[in-house]
Amino acid sequence: AECARGCTPSLIMVKGPTRINAAAPVAWNESDPRGRSRERQRLRFLLPAAAMKTARFLQTFQSRIRHMESRPSRRSRAAEDLEFFVRCEVHRSDADVLINSLRRVAEDVRAVPEERAPWFPRKIGDLDKCNHLITKYDPDLDQDHPVSEPLPRVDYTAEEVSTWREVYRTLRSIYPTHACRQYLENLVELERHCGYGEDSIPQLADISAFLRERTGFQLRPVAGLLSARDFLSSLAFRVFQCTQYIRHSSTPMHSPEPDCCHELLGHVPMLADKEFAQFSQEIGLASLGASDEDIEKLSTLYWFTVEFGLCKQDGSVKAYGAGLLSSYGELMYALSDEPEYKPFDPEECAIQPYQDQTYQPVYFVSESFEDAKLKLRQYSSTIRKAFSVRYDPFTCTMEVLDEPSKIQSALSQMREDLKILHGALGKLA
Ligand SMILES: [Fe+2]
Repeated sequence: AECARGCTPSLIMVKGPTRINAAAPVAWNESDPRGRSRERQRLRFLLPAAAMKTARFLQTFQSRIRHMESRPSRRSRAAEDLEFFVRCEVHRSDADVLINSLRRVAEDVRAVPEERAPWFPRKIGDLDKCNHLITKYDPDLDQDHPVSEPLPRVDYTAEEVSTWREVYRTLRSIYPTHACRQYLENLVELERHCGYGEDSIPQLADISAFLRERTGFQLRPVAGLLSARDFLSSLAFRVFQCTQYIRHSSTPMHSPEPDCCHELLGHVPMLADKEFAQFSQEIGLASLGASDEDIEKLSTLYWFTVEFGLCKQDGSVKAYGAGLLSSYGELMYALSDEPEYKPFDPEECAIQPYQDQTYQPVYFVSESFEDAKLKLRQYSSTIRKAFSVRYDPFTCTMEVLDEPSKIQSALSQMREDLKILHGALGKLA
């Protein structure tokens, strides 16, 4: 339903000339030009006779019809029976009367209320509204930096570069034995193409261009810690909101808040991996329109995977989480004999208490990114939502699949893609 910002469409089913299933009145937060608030209704009914009567009522109540379609009836055996779906808006004060009027021409009226869904960004430009900071750390950065504008280049001081050097040198020495294969491969690429090294702090603009070529991810500068909902929703668009300032020189190996050492050494190499990028985007997609409770669970899931995740590789356990790969102490601890390991299970992971002041009480170990992705998909499908979304990378928009025609169009596109793959297989043969 087109209901992400607070409306709750309802379903009215009309079966036969004397039968209607109807929904309860709904809330709709729009006003008409005369300032009267309107309600949105969704009608579904069978048989043209009922359709005609319903249409007359809709006209009488000055309903604004947004969408109308017919489908073969699934309930009636008669081939000519059709179900009509109508999405319309009516004046709030008229909603009850309209539904009662429909009940007069039908015998079966049932209510199927739909839930309110929190607002979420529909296009990449909407991420400019996803900038609610929990804590601001960077006094110099404009909090409202638009997604579409070039990333600012920072002239870091000699003291800041010195802090970076110490962090880089210390962590780089243990990556070969502690980081996962994908991380190591991409770090070498970043050293080759993006100025990664001890001598200077790489610029977000260069890294963002590199990531776009690899996985379609891009960076957006952020001045501090964002709300979980805003941060996760940006992942759905393959946008990573990233701090640009660096920790204080007095504590080079520790930063209580995310800084560029954490982002550039912890997150960026993993975002350059196709499978991990997909995994990150899927957490973001699952968050769109989710309840506060589900956002809390998804951000905990994010915490134990993207931030503190471990995975099996070639018979040993390696780190892929950014919180580990940017912290010498916790990386050594996580891969020692001390901590408790659990196999990655999103259900359990999402409610596991976590630590943001000291090392984690437990780490979740994935069999592989592919395995983690499949489990995440399974988990996401259990999140209660009244709609499904699909990201269109060509227009950078989020398509809400709430009408058969939209699903049909997505399927046609997939069929074309399958034809290309089929053709490619044929050529190989
Ligand atoms: Fe992080």
